[in-house]
Amino acid sequence: MSHIFVTGGAGFIGTNFVFDWLKDEHANGIVNVDKLTYAGNLMNLASLEGNPRHQFCEADICDRNAMEQLFATFSPRAVVHFAAESHVDRSIHGPGAFIETNVRGTFALLEAARSYWSELKGEARERFRFLHVSTDEVYGSLEPCDAAFSEVTPYAPNSPYSASKAASDHLVRAYHHTYGLPVLTTNCSNNYGPYQFPEKLIPLIIANALAGKALPVYGDGQNVRDWLYVTDHCSAVRAVLARGVPGETYNVGGWNEKTNLEVVHAVCDLLDELRPDPAGPHRRLISFVTDRPGHDRRYAIDARKIQRELGWTPEQTFESGLRRTVSWYLANEKWLESVTSGEYRSWVLKHYAA
Ligand code: NAD
Ligand code: DAU
Repeated sequence: MSHIFVTGGAGFIGTNFVFDWLKDEHANGIVNVDKLTYAGNLMNLASLEGNPRHQFCEADICDRNAMEQLFATFSPRAVVHFAAESHVDRSIHGPGAFIETNVRGTFALLEAARSYWSELKGEARERFRFLHVSTDEVYGSLEPCDAAFSEVTPYAPNSPYSASKAASDHLVRAYHHTYGLPVLTTNCSNNYGPYQFPEKLIPLIIANALAGKALPVYGDGQNVRDWLYVTDHCSAVRAVLARGVPGETYNVGGWNEKTNLEVVHAVCDLLDELRPDPAGPHRRLISFVTDRPGHDRRYAIDARKIQRELGWTPEQTFESGLRRTVSWYLANEKWLESVTSGEYRSWVLKHYAA
């Protein structure tokens, strides 16, 4: 069976991508390469145990020898590269891990892919793809009246996280330009949905609200993000992998700009409907806290290229996606409990105590 490599497939988007991909019974098998950091969770993939189309390999993308061995063992037809340190606030507390995985790890993976691809012949060489999953944060911050980020917006990353992702995008671009490696890059806006680690805004608000804890909103709550339901991101990645032109980048977004306060209100209102709190409306728990240093004011994605050239459009509206998300967390409180112990508690103490 021919395979694709999915890096970071035990994280939030990776897990959703693995399930989404395997729904198609004719699709290639997956070799899931993940280091299982605090953000990776094998429990997410428990239902795939014994499935011959999914093989999990615990490995660090920074380990070039390990990556080369995996290429030699499985001869993948493509790499879908999600693995990264992904949380902006953690990158402010400790940027080192971000440079290590996002820059050095992507470099090691690119080198292993290049050495593998350069030995391929004929159709296998023609068909091989390296799809790099990146973020809209590489473009920096928009003013309220600025046009949304397009594929030609200059890079202006503002956090250690976005700078490390920008660096990885540049490496990926250079491997196409210099070596001809058939790469594709996607720059996507904020995702939300099942399996998102509750350090990110939406699951954090759900988790805290369920526990009757304060709902921390940074600054004035007027920062804007452009939200995309995670399975819509997965379908965009599949479209780019299937029909994208090597060397091209594709911006992915849901045309769903919302202020953080609007998002928090929407989560509270859904919880009031689905899990009312006898103590009163969940909005009462909102607490404005010190702003994130260097907090980008607004992100917005112009997703016209991927729509025009690859025919991709999102299926979920913000309202339908958020309802699915809140319902998933309510139905999976055991999962939430298990990921909010240990390391998570130390993070919350360190980050929110101040
Ligand atoms: P996540 O933090 O939930 O998951 C990251 C996964 O990568 C984890 O399973 C972790 O164990 C693994 N990983 C980390 N370092 C590794 C290493 N050195 N070797 C192997 N595996 C390693 O992240 P996510 O939110 O699922 O994001 C996935 C990708 O999508 C990232 O590249 C991120 O930059 C990008 N992205 C995320 C969003 C979003 O809103 N979450 C939006 C756009 C782009
Ligand atoms: O735009 C894509 C990016 O979206 C991805 O590349 C990142 O991996 C992903 O983490 C996300 O980054 P953000 O910083 O936008 O996501 P986060 O969920 O951390 O924050 C969303 C907004 O909510 C942001 O303006 C900060 C604010 N926020 C966040 C937290 C955790 C709060 O107000 N309070 C909080 O406690």
